[in-house]
Amino acid sequence: MSITSICCIGAGYVGGPTMAVIAHKCPHIKVTVVDLNEERIARWNDPNVENIPVYEPGLSEIVAQARGKNLFFSTQVDEAIDEAQMIFISVNTPTKTYGAGKGMAADLKYIELCARQIARVATTDKIVVEKSTLPVRTAEAIKNILDNTGNGVQFQILSNPEFLAEGTAVEDLLAPDRVLIGGGTDEAGQIAIKKLVEVYANWVPSHQILTTNLWSSELSKLTANAFLAQRVSSINAISELCEKTGANVNEVAKAIGMDSRIGPKFLKASVGFGGSCFQKDILNLVYIAKSFGLQEVADYWEQVIIMNDHQKNRFARKIVSTLYNTVSGKKITFLGWAFKKDTNDTRESAAIYVADDLLNEQAQIAVYDPKVSARQIQSDLNYLETRLPEENDKAIESCNDPYEACKNAHAIAILTEWDEFKSYDWQRIYDAMLKPAFVFDGRNLLDADKMKEIGFLYQGIGS
Ligand code: NAD
Ligand code: UGA
Repeated sequence: MSITSICCIGAGYVGGPTMAVIAHKCPHIKVTVVDLNEERIARWNDPNVENIPVYEPGLSEIVAQARGKNLFFSTQVDEAIDEAQMIFISVNTPTKTYGAGKGMAADLKYIELCARQIARVATTDKIVVEKSTLPVRTAEAIKNILDNTGNGVQFQILSNPEFLAEGTAVEDLLAPDRVLIGGGTDEAGQIAIKKLVEVYANWVPSHQILTTNLWSSELSKLTANAFLAQRVSSINAISELCEKTGANVNEVAKAIGMDSRIGPKFLKASVGFGGSCFQKDILNLVYIAKSFGLQEVADYWEQVIIMNDHQKNRFARKIVSTLYNTVSGKKITFLGWAFKKDTNDTRESAAIYVADDLLNEQAQIAVYDPKVSARQIQSDLNYLETRLPEENDKAIESCNDPYEACKNAHAIAILTEWDEFKSYDWQRIYDAMLKPAFVFDGRNLLDADKMKEIGFLYQGIGS
């Protein structure tokens, strides 16, 4: 019997878009996305589809088409679980902030809560799908909870990690490089895998649907993120060497990327990678390696994070040293706060850490980001607990207009590569700034020669 009813626990950046695309591509399947967060669900149900809580190009259109037909958002978690044949767990798995493994291991409390809730509520057999990114062998723990606390029904666990990137989530979901499904090697496990394969086969070519055992699938997700982040840290390490030697990191990236064994993607030097996953997943990998006594493996991957912290920190230090070793009382404008373009997500954004360093130097920061609210910026800074919320409030202002944000600034720092920044009237911005007018381009977004022609003292990354 094919799947006709799916429930997804967690209506976040993964659960929302993923389920919207499944519903869109599988009109015969009823998809219900549930979350404990009432405000989030209310926003997914907002009659004005532009108010959904996740900004992704193309997402509101897909939600508008499927919502109310076969796509539903609800806070009735128990009901949705019991009704579904297949349950995706897509809740957050942040880095632990307490106890053993603090600052490294994944905090699995939300996963365990889901497993216990599914066990308590389910009155028919279920396929439970790990969509969240999890430490290798988590499926074993989930199975244990389900089998020992359930109502005697049968559970099959699958691992189906998500590889979408924010900002291109819809594109990635509609045409994924691959879909990965791990499951049990026994007959029941293989039947469960087949059912999930059938769901994706509605739009993904079969040769791109990969099936493996559970542990390979869980570990592949952490490995993919570690390899991607490693490329960014590698090119960022070279960017520092470029700045000392007269080489240009854009030229180096192009030259090495044309080697088909290396490839051109993910070689953009930057102010450092952000986002909710790279750091947490690598730390998780490091923790797993350490827990198996593999110290060299742990150290190797940890260096990717150390390099990234260094890159963020040296960007802030460069601003201070270029501005005559003091930014105290100086207005510095940030263009961009999101961790990359085309998303409203700010988790682990480099902007937060650069701002924190500059606030320690008593700078006054003005921020313009097309999709991030003032409230979010304040909350990101307050979360660090470096200073009192009132002090953050005084030292940072959020602007609705980029020209207003840049007026009377000593320096502009570009933290996110939003396309619109390229089309600004940079002469107008220059005229309204204090002189000398500095631009620190943390994304190598702007044309260096044109900026210098206008009169800016312009510095990119790695040149
Ligand atoms: P998120 O924080 O945006 O969403 C998680 C949601 O789960 C929240 O809305 C939260 O309220 C809800 N939740 C937590 N516990 C719950 C419970 N017991 N019952 C109901 N709802 C509950 O997180 P996200 O960015 O969507 O990430 C989810 C998982 O997917 C993580 O493991 C992450 O590593 C992984 N992932 C994320 C991305 C990405 O680009 N963000 C990509 C691939 C994989
Ligand atoms: C990343 C992966 O790309 C996804 O495949 C994965 O599913 C996801 O993590 C996850 O597990 O959460 P995401 O973090 O959304 O996706 O975005 P990326 O495009 O990977 O960018 C991450 C960070 O690296 C951003 O801050 C980006 O600006 C930075 N980056 C990326 C660079 O600095 N240079 C590059 O060349 C590429």
